[in-house]
Amino acid sequence: MCGIIGYVGEQEAAPILLDGLRRLEYRGYDSVGIAVLEKNGGLTIQKRAGKLEGLAAGIGQRWPRGRQGIGHTRWATHGKPTDVNAHPHTDCTGNVVVIHNGIVENHQALKQRLLAAGHTFTSETDTEVIPHLLEEYMREGLDLHGALARALGELAGAHAILAMSTSEPGTVVAARAGNAGGVVVGYGQNANYLASDLPAILPHTRWAVFLQDGEIARVTQREVTYSRDGLRLEREPQELPYDPVSAAKGNYKHFMQKEIAEQPEAILDTVRGRALFAESRVELEDVALTRAQMEGIRRVVLVGMGTSLHAAMVGRYYMEKIAGLPAEVDNASEFRYREPLIGPDTLLVSVSQSGETVDTLAAMEEGRRNGSPQVTVCNVIGSQAARIADGVVYTRCGLEIGVASTKTYAAAISALYLLACYLGQERGLIDPERMGGLLAPLARLPYLTGEVVKRSPEFERLAHLFFRCENFLFLGRGLQYPVAMEGALKLKEVSYIHAEGYPAGEMKHGPIALIDREMPVIALVPRDHLREKMMSNIEQVKAREGTVIALATEGDEELEDKADHVIYVPEVAPLLAPVLTTVPLQLFAYHVAVRRGCDVDQPRNLAKTVTVE
Ligand code: AGP
Repeated sequence: MCGIIGYVGEQEAAPILLDGLRRLEYRGYDSVGIAVLEKNGGLTIQKRAGKLEGLAAGIGQRWPRGRQGIGHTRWATHGKPTDVNAHPHTDCTGNVVVIHNGIVENHQALKQRLLAAGHTFTSETDTEVIPHLLEEYMREGLDLHGALARALGELAGAHAILAMSTSEPGTVVAARAGNAGGVVVGYGQNANYLASDLPAILPHTRWAVFLQDGEIARVTQREVTYSRDGLRLEREPQELPYDPVSAAKGNYKHFMQKEIAEQPEAILDTVRGRALFAESRVELEDVALTRAQMEGIRRVVLVGMGTSLHAAMVGRYYMEKIAGLPAEVDNASEFRYREPLIGPDTLLVSVSQSGETVDTLAAMEEGRRNGSPQVTVCNVIGSQAARIADGVVYTRCGLEIGVASTKTYAAAISALYLLACYLGQERGLIDPERMGGLLAPLARLPYLTGEVVKRSPEFERLAHLFFRCENFLFLGRGLQYPVAMEGALKLKEVSYIHAEGYPAGEMKHGPIALIDREMPVIALVPRDHLREKMMSNIEQVKAREGTVIALATEGDEELEDKADHVIYVPEVAPLLAPVLTTVPLQLFAYHVAVRRGCDVDQPRNLAKTVTVE
């Protein structure tokens, strides 16, 4: 979590840092700050609690003048979101300045040691020990890079760190240790950049290096050098396939609204060139499992968190129904701690938009320790998940900026569908005829998704009827159960309404006690083999005077008599219905949140990428 930016070049640093932070604010927005090394050699820090707009308004045109600096937007872990706890943090002399993403797990012990050595602290953060450690080691004669390398060996936990010192003008150093989120080095024209994430550097460059675990970068205007464990490394920048336009809102009011509308394209791009419709084949260029690994798979375990977990839940059906493999799905944060019984015969499939979610990465490490082959479904090229896994199916969505995931969910489901087809094909279970039948509905999915997106005004009208409700229940069965979970998650994330997603069969076992006129029930009833069961559940809600909003397949008029409101989606193969039925729920949540005046793209307390446990 937390957004990090650094700059060294020939232009004024402060506007570049502020612009970069604006693009990274989705990573955390409890407080914000910048540090600029001024032309006169002094270090100026401007920081405050709250969002960037407050800091930017306070600075106005009086920004500190200097051509190198670092900036941070915080998601608070240790210490409240106050001005004092905002990053950057300095040492006692004010000559060393640090920004940090991660948790210094041994900060108490380090602080005691530093206090005993005469250091004084001003904040409640764990981060503040880092500049004091750097000060200590630089006093002993190390340069900034050497001091950071030594400090890194002492910090428990996972970290992304940027530091500057008045004694080394023209240099910013950066380090990555473990899975606290990435550090990307961007190569510009007479300038170099550092950031936690790509949106901050895309307006300046398309060439970058992603720091790996244990690596340190020393960045000046003209040169970047890399090291690990004291040894110099050679790293070549790679070209980024992202378009800077995708980091802009365009004509949309919010990123969430734009990203919902981009779903047809996201699905199309994810499927393009992989589903070979004419040949009835699937090719996944980056799933490089050996023949022995492929043939040795006896079951699949899928992991993820939040929306990615919901996509993984859909994926479990695909692994069973399409690939013919027994499949389980687990919340990644639980998986790692229950010492799961997995081995080389278990294919571990992780789903993560960012590829940096710490719980998902830890589950992947667990898989690696147990010798399980791994495939990750991920949106960010070069992310840690992509590096850990044996194979990757990238969701080709471009950047997703809204904190609430939308287009990456649709694309992840499409990618999991392809992966299941591929596994079935490579394991000799799916012949071309069956594959043709599986791929045909996928070809229509982008168009049908677009048809649902077009109905946004209809969902907006519905949102206006219900935006004052404080509780919602979402019910689904089979493949619609994960959709119910996702619909509830979207609503709570962006509108702060309490919502629960349940398998409809579970309703009778407790949740039914909640039903009254005040709590609408959203029932997912597309035409599939569980429709009749869902109809009975709707009757049970109506018998208790509940209000039902049903989501059904076009032409299913019987629901008009049963439910209070009906939303229709086009007919599609039941396996792919979760994509279509989620779109109205995303748009409903969006319009409810807008109507309630919520900050849709930056909901309170959340961060886009969760890099702490
Ligand atoms: C979804 O809207 C949330 N932003 C959140 O649940 C998210 O899906 C989760 O944190 C996992 O993130 P990842 O996909 O980057 O791993």
